[in-house]
Formats: sequence, C-alpha cells, structure tokens
Amino acid sequence: MPEPVEPLVPPARGGETARKIVVTMCTLERLSVALALSSMLLAAQPLTFSKNIAPIVFEHCAPCHRPGESAPFSLLTYGDLRKRGGQIVQVTRQRYMPPWMPEPGYGDFADSLRLSDHQIDILARWVSQGMPEGDSADLPPPPRFTEGWQLGTPDMIVRMSQPYHLNAASGDVFRNFVLPVNLKETSVHSNCVPAISAWCTTPT
Ligand code: HEC
Repeated sequence: MPEPVEPLVPPARGGETARKIVVTMCTLERLSVALALSSMLLAAQPLTFSKNIAPIVFEHCAPCHRPGESAPFSLLTYGDLRKRGGQIVQVTRQRYMPPWMPEPGYGDFADSLRLSDHQIDILARWVSQGMPEGDSADLPPPPRFTEGWQLGTPDMIVRMSQPYHLNAASGDVFRNFVLPVNLKETSVHSNCVPAISAWCTTPT
C-alpha cells in the first residue's frame, strides 16, 4: 500500500490562503509586466526640444550663449540648437561645455553649471532621434538674466591704469594683472570669501 500523499493544498482554510497567495503573485507579475511596458514606452517616446531640451539649455548654456555674452553664438531657440546638434553632443560628452572646472564629489557649489550624466544622455538621444521640436506649449518660460553686475553692485571698483589689448586669435591667454587696492582696513569676516567679478570691454 503506498503511503497516503498529503494533498499539496489542504482543502480547509489553508487552501483559501494558498489560492490568495497565488492570485496575489499573479497580480504582482502583471503589475511588473505593466511597469516594464510603460517604462519601455516612456523610453521610446521621442524627446522634444520644448519639453526635454529647452530646460537644460536655458539653465546650463544660455547664461553664456546669448547676445552680449562670452560665447560666440546663441543657444536660445530651437533653430539655434538645430544648427549645431552634433557639435553639442560632442562638447557635452567631453564635458568641454558647459565649462565647469570643479571636480564633482567634493562638495557642491551653488548654481553649478555641470550637466548630469542623464542630461548629457538626453541631449545625445534627442539629436539621434532627429531633433524634434515638439509642442511650443511645453516650453519653459524663457530664462531671465540680470544685466550688468552679476553679483550685485560692487563695494569697490578698481580700474587698470592702461587698457590691455587682446588680439583676436585662437587659444587661451593667461595673464596676471596686478592692480593696487589702497585699502586701509577690510571688513571681511573669517567665514566669508570675498567675491570678485571682472568686466571686460570691447574697444570701440
Ligand atoms: C560659462 C560660459 C559658457 C557656458 C555656460 C556654455 N558655454 Fe559653450 N562656449 C562658451 C565659449 C566662451 C565658447 C567659445 C570658446 C570655446 O570654444 O572654448 C563656447 C563654445 C561652444 C561650442 C563650440 C565649440 C567649438 O569647438 O567650437 C559649443 C558647441 C558650445 N559652446 C555648446 C555649449 C552647450 C551645449 C552648453 C550648455 C550645455 C554651453 N556651451 C555652455 C561659453 C560657455
């Protein structure tokens, strides 16, 4: 006589619980399939200038890439970006742009211009998707900039006794200028770093 085999799911209350567990597992499975599908759909959704690119560029590029600033061309509109897609991917991947020297991971600076890996990836994917413009209703408000002194009116302005003429040529020029500051006393506190802002003018 074979040993009576214990039923796998006992018919009493326990069976109900076991069924519930099986049902719950199925529900979870369905849920995770749904989640995987929706994230695939999200990834497949085309990125657009208005929704995904303008917020990055307005914050991280436009401070310099706008009329009157240091960069040689504007990056404010869809047309501006479209002209230079490939170049933008290249310079952001190399982290040549935005210029931001501090090494990450040693403390954060306020108003850092550094792009995250995710933002660099978004720019690259948008270009590879053919740079769609999207719906202008998705555009964030245009960036607003402070004109003139960026750090507020200075407490002190020192001027060079004679102008320095920088010739138009490629490559960076590093030069130290020594300017006398006839201060009798300073009110800089030990926990306060004085800020210096330089203003260059183009000869007229
Ligand atoms: C702090 C100012 C500043 C910011 C911020 C900045 N740029 Fe620039 N960019 C410059 C200047 C100045 C140049 C021209 C000199 C050079 O190429 O180094 C330049 C040049 C470029 C060039 C041309 C590079 C080449 O090889 O000729 C590209 C493309 C560019 N920037 C894209 C960007 C993008 C995209 C962003 C934002 C993600 C950005 N920049 C942010 C100042 C800036």
